[in-house]
Amino acid sequence: MLASHPLEFLSLTFRGLVPLHKEYRTRLRMTLFDWIGFHEKLMKKGQCRWMGVRADKNPLDAWIYQEILFEVRPEVVIEIGSYQGGSTLFLAHLLELIGDGFVISVDIDRSEYKVRHPRIIEVTGESSSSGVISRVADLCRGRRGLVIHDADHLKEQVLKDLANYAPLVGVGSYFIVEDSVEDLLTPFEDVGQFHDGPLAAIEEFLKENRQFEVDVDRERYILSNNPRGFLKRTK
Ligand SMILES: C[S@@+](CC[C@H](N)C(=O)[O-])C[C@H]1O[C@@H](n2cnc3c(N)ncnc32)[C@H](O)[C@@H]1O
Repeated sequence: MLASHPLEFLSLTFRGLVPLHKEYRTRLRMTLFDWIGFHEKLMKKGQCRWMGVRADKNPLDAWIYQEILFEVRPEVVIEIGSYQGGSTLFLAHLLELIGDGFVISVDIDRSEYKVRHPRIIEVTGESSSSGVISRVADLCRGRRGLVIHDADHLKEQVLKDLANYAPLVGVGSYFIVEDSVEDLLTPFEDVGQFHDGPLAAIEEFLKENRQFEVDVDRERYILSNNPRGFLKRTK
């Protein structure tokens, strides 16, 4: 008897219906592609959380964010797209541990937003509106920035946000474009877009912006939601 859901086997196993090792080996045969789809569904159900608040993050990417923040020591992290704020709180907690920096959370909609932290400043509005851009620029003036983009994933909007916010990224720091994996996923079981999205935007941005390079080492765990999305400012 095989479990139809990757976690269902646990219940079958503990009821003595299937041998433990066989089911774990079956789970390990899942492809990376299957895992990304599995995890997308977990996120959609709100089952990925930081300190109890929904955070739509691939945990392997979150580990990489910790490495980048510790190495770069940004004075300000601009998160474009916060939703409930689990990812925002995660970034604030990392900065708290490092002992410096604050997060600017940009979001057009605060109806589901749940977090408060002394290291978080909220800027509410459309990311490419002139009011939001100038407010964020004022808060960042003279500070080394790092940007994480997780808002509207359509190519044209990502390109606009890249153009408007890339100047805030300090040399040696990063503009992280999330969910470029969506350009690679065939729509299946309501997961995946297979469209001109973040990955297409990254490729177009890189053609015109030679001061940024893809840091492929940040994809070294292979499973990332951000293929070619870790853009390092090198000059
Ligand atoms: C995928 S959710 C962010 C998830 C969050 N970063 C996390 O990891 O849990 C996308 C968010 O982007 C916001 N958003 C979408 N388009 C936007 C825009 N043009 N400007 C500002 N916020 C936008 C939405 O309101 C939503 O809260």
